Amino acid sequence: MTPPGTVLITGPTRNLGRYATLALADRPDGRRPDLLLVGRAGPGLTAVAEEARSRGATVREIGCDLSSLAEVRTAGAAVRDLLAAGDLHPLRALVANAGTTTADTRRASADGYELTFAVNHLAHAQLIGDLLDSLAAPARIVLLGSNTYHANIWRKLLHVPEAVWADPLELARPATGDQAPGMNAAGVAYSNAKLAVLYYAHELQRRVGDGIAVSVFEPGWMPGTALGRTAPEAVQRIGRALARVPGVSTPERSGPLLASMALDDRWAHLRDGAFVVKTKLTEVRPVAQDRAREKRLWEATADLLSTAQASQDASR
Ligand SMILES: NC(=O)c1ccc[n+]([C@@H]2O[C@H](COP(=O)([O-])OP(=O)(O)OC[C@H]3O[C@@H](n4cnc5c(N)ncnc54)[C@H](OP(=O)(O)O)[C@@H]3O)[C@@H](O)[C@H]2O)c1
Repeated sequence: MTPPGTVLITGPTRNLGRYATLALADRPDGRRPDLLLVGRAGPGLTAVAEEARSRGATVREIGCDLSSLAEVRTAGAAVRDLLAAGDLHPLRALVANAGTTTADTRRASADGYELTFAVNHLAHAQLIGDLLDSLAAPARIVLLGSNTYHANIWRKLLHVPEAVWADPLELARPATGDQAPGMNAAGVAYSNAKLAVLYYAHELQRRVGDGIAVSVFEPGWMPGTALGRTAPEAVQRIGRALARVPGVSTPERSGPLLASMALDDRWAHLRDGAFVVKTKLTEVRPVAQDRAREKRLWEATADLLSTAQASQDASR
């Protein structure tokens, strides 16, 4: 068994990320990893760090708003410094959990990119790229996907739209106009960002060595989390009600499953962006396996990240 080392998780402040963090901290001595918590600075981050420490974990908090690529680069540098200083055990897993949706797809990140695409995909691509050399083999990268990338009968009934893929430079462009394009456009943006996560995971595995295993986790539908926080109040109320339906996934139940993906031997064989829905290894639909789109996403992501860096450098 590989020693647990350090696990980095983004978005540890609430719901899925918080329960995954606490499940990692709850591991017994000798199997408990050190924790690097990358989240928006504030009481939520301090609270989960304190809770994890009270369970025996060594924890470092890295304040970072993922909607700013400059902050992501700074966070990556801080992680590299901590690891180089020998303050923590080797980095064995990076869990890219943070996610967001926005009811208004005109909203842009600090770098001018559509917010949903920026936080769910671009920020994690930046962080992972900056930390690839810091991961100690055998290491894992676990990304967060969502089954909303494709439609099924239930999603159609609930008006949850599937992905409508476009060139990544288009996906990164905020909507324009006097009025917000509406909830359907917001849902499409989220599904596109999660389809991007799958494409990126497949391409990432092709580009990293054998020592790094890339997988994608789907926690099940967890209505009522903060993911829908910008939706109209009536929609949020329905989400909170659905969260109480027996059998529906919850952060309390799915958080430990995400923690398991990061470290447990059970998942050590996963590679190539393997998609796990809660505990079930699941084949993705043909639309989510597309070599041409995966290559294009990789190249466009590199362009978007370097454009953001160049514009930051120029404004110094
Ligand atoms: N809920 C579902 O049904 C569902 C289904 C499939 C997949 N997922 C995925 O599972 C993951 C967790 O979802 P959840 O339901 O737990 O969502 P959530 O309740 O909204 O929590 C999202 C987490 O991401 C963080 N985050 C969002 N924007 C950020 C930013 N700009 N900078 C830093 N951190 C940011 C939040 O931090 P703050 O506390 O600072 O806001 C929070 O910790 C997401 O990737 C989501 O797409 C969820």
